[in-house]
Amino acid sequence: MDVVLAAHSGLRWLVLAGLVAVIAWAFTGDRSGVPTWVRVVGGIFALQVVLGLVLYVADQGWEQGPFLAMWHPVAMIAALGVFQVGTARAGRGEGPPRVLGLFTLVALVLVLAGIPWFRPLM
Ligand code: HEM
Repeated sequence: MDVVLAAHSGLRWLVLAGLVAVIAWAFTGDRSGVPTWVRVVGGIFALQVVLGLVLYVADQGWEQGPFLAMWHPVAMIAALGVFQVGTARAGRGEGPPRVLGLFTLVALVLVLAGIPWFRPLM
């Protein structure tokens, strides 16, 4: 599972950078719709959650202390849900893209709060 853990650890940076980029895009200029690259960010985000689920089962996440057993998965799955709702609403043209920016901001806060920063950086 070393490879999966390394991928899961490294992908965090792509997810964080992607969410910051979506927020910057949504709050600047006259925007509409959901461009393909925002969907790609959503795909990377979803892949990260799937890798997390694999690690949780393979490395017995429930035995790795309360943070990784409970808070980490709950915060990350909730964050993905919030982001998906934001992109779905923006995709249907409900509200200005600022709405996508706000949903993504909430998702980013959840991800930042859910990352086990106490572990050594790989
Ligand atoms: C955007 C979503 C996620 C991000 C950014 C993220 C990030 C991380 C990071 C940075 C680590 C520490 C890696 C290291 O020590 O090198 C980690 C570990 C872990 N994550 Fe996630 N994670 C996410 C989603 C999930 C989800 C949804 C689950 C479970 C359902 C999960 C389960 C785990 C487990 C079990 C570990 C510890 C693995 C081990 O050391 O054996 N992650 N995660």
